[in-house]
Amino acid sequence: MKNIYLIGFMGCGKTSSGKKLSKLLKVPFLDTDQMIVAQAGKKIPDIFLEEGEEAFRRRETEVFRKLAEEQKEGAVISCGGGAALREENVALMKQGGLVVMLTASSKTIYNRVKGGHNRPLLEGRMSVEGIEELMQGRLPFYEKAADLKIPTDRLRCIQVAKNIAKAVKTRESRLDS
Ligand code: S3P
Repeated sequence: MKNIYLIGFMGCGKTSSGKKLSKLLKVPFLDTDQMIVAQAGKKIPDIFLEEGEEAFRRRETEVFRKLAEEQKEGAVISCGGGAALREENVALMKQGGLVVMLTASSKTIYNRVKGGHNRPLLEGRMSVEGIEELMQGRLPFYEKAADLKIPTDRLRCIQVAKNIAKAVKTRESRLDS
């Protein structure tokens, strides 16, 4: 199986649905944010605060290089919400990977992320309007990178995982025939 890279805005369910999907497909689950945290030895807000966003992005690209080189067996990989904004990251995902975009409205996202403090880019932007504005700038990048697009509004993560599995299977059988 190819690696499945889940991309999309913060709070669209990449991690929660990704974990369920990895169980359904019986493959490992990986999370680029967790890999960065493990490598840096500090939490994401601390990396942003102490090193700045650019340094975080360099660490993120390093993780995608490592995944493209070492993770060849097939895994579900949840990607940070900014990962698909860098062309280099997307090119690394496409090396042996399928890119799946998860979508949700800014209202849904707000309801999922409000009250959290682990996403530095949402600090000072914790409103439906603030999320919508940031999301509009990012959607063209997600759309360009995506091989498949899966909606998540009003769905439980197990249902999203099942929908991803079905869409991946359909796409692969179409490509095989
Ligand atoms: C970011 C999203 C976060 C994390 C970092 C930056 C972004 O990941 O990588 O805070 O730029 O959208 P999640 O999408 O998993 O929250």
